[in-house]
Amino acid sequence: MKIFLDTADLNEIRRAADAGLIDGVTTNPSLMAKVAGDRDPTDLFLDICKAVDGPVSAEVVALDKDTMVAEGRRLAELADNIVVKIPLTEDGLRACRALTAEGIRTNVTLCFSAPQAVLAAKAGASYISPFVGRIDDISGEGMQLISQIRQMYDNYGFGTEILTASIRHPAHVVEAMLIGSDCGTMPPKVLYQLLKHPLTDKGLDAFMADWKTLGKDL
Ligand code: G3P
Repeated sequence: MKIFLDTADLNEIRRAADAGLIDGVTTNPSLMAKVAGDRDPTDLFLDICKAVDGPVSAEVVALDKDTMVAEGRRLAELADNIVVKIPLTEDGLRACRALTAEGIRTNVTLCFSAPQAVLAAKAGASYISPFVGRIDDISGEGMQLISQIRQMYDNYGFGTEILTASIRHPAHVVEAMLIGSDCGTMPPKVLYQLLKHPLTDKGLDAFMADWKTLGKDL
């Protein structure tokens, strides 16, 4: 499964990319608003695209099809690794179809049901982003949605990649991988939770302490 970092924070993106931990980045208007400050959002997208060797999802902010398409074209011109993120609305699916026809990659976002995911695939979406954490937040079963989409896409041979989004903890990552999600996007906190284990830290402390008793360098 491809691991994407769900942030617009350049420091976090550079740290994770330099460590080889991520395959791409996803952003959304809320994540951009958190860090952009006075910066031109276009410049920030450009820096993110340079920082990571992989797809970078940049979201349109218009609600009507024509303006979404215009924004999508402008975003796609910024860098080869831009993926245009589009909300799952009727206009969004129209825009997705139009941009796909121009060879522009798309990520259809804010997906909360299997039928929505099917319509996005039929509109030619490169990625579908079902938000598992937000479904869990309202006492639903986010992972059940990933299973359903996986099965429906496989049954009918849709090439749209499932990008499990709104991941809240490492168990979501494991479950998404067991189901066969193509990608998962997570905040930096969850990425480093994947890396850490208390027994690794404890074991390393013991190895270091034992080695010290030798009083020798390597
Ligand atoms: O970027 C889309 C999605 O991952 C947002 O997650 O945590 O705001 O529900 P969250």
